[in-house]
Amino acid sequence: MDLPDIIQAVSQIEGWFYEEQMTILHPIISALSTDAVLVEIGTYHGRSTLFFRLSNPNIDIITIDLCKPYEAINGMLVNPPPAIDDRIIQYGRIVQIIGESSDVASRFERDIDCLFVDGNHTYGGVQKDITAWMPKVRGGGWVIFHDYDPQYEGVIRAVDELERSGGLERLYAESLLFVGRKT
Ligand SMILES: C[S@@+](CC[C@H](N)C(=O)[O-])C[C@H]1O[C@@H](n2cnc3c(N)ncnc32)[C@H](O)[C@@H]1O
Repeated sequence: MDLPDIIQAVSQIEGWFYEEQMTILHPIISALSTDAVLVEIGTYHGRSTLFFRLSNPNIDIITIDLCKPYEAINGMLVNPPPAIDDRIIQYGRIVQIIGESSDVASRFERDIDCLFVDGNHTYGGVQKDITAWMPKVRGGGWVIFHDYDPQYEGVIRAVDELERSGGLERLYAESLLFVGRKT
């Protein structure tokens, strides 16, 4: 499917994943090899999940979410609690695991080709995901953080620390995305 058609389909699903980000990530996701493993932390209703699926039909997608009411920035709870949209699962090769992402990591045994982190946006939350998931990413594998932006100071701090530690090579950081490769 071409990018304009993907953008149109993905836009039908509620969430926080936008055309600019799809444009940046489409060449990366569509080039993942057959049977590559993509892990997404933070499904919400599956908007980014659908983007990954439509960009590459040949990869396995594992998407993780607490599936509890999501506390929005203004302190209100989003109701109903996030659940992946049924329209997305029908595309196949998508498994949703419900749970706290670092708990899920402790039971996850596959090597990861692409890790997309869009779960808990606090410094401690991102650090926890980095500690739990980075060891499972293959050398040279893609590591992408969403909301790498000054409004999410914790995301920037945790990702910059990872970069300084030498664990991640930055390719670019723009339009709310940090895109890197595991060193
Ligand atoms: C910003 S939303 C994800 C948006 C989604 N990627 C999209 O395209 O719309 C963040 C999601 O992460 C989930 N989440 C937050 N902390 C989590 C954790 N520790 N483990 C698993 N999921 C978590 C929330 O329930 C929420 O649905």
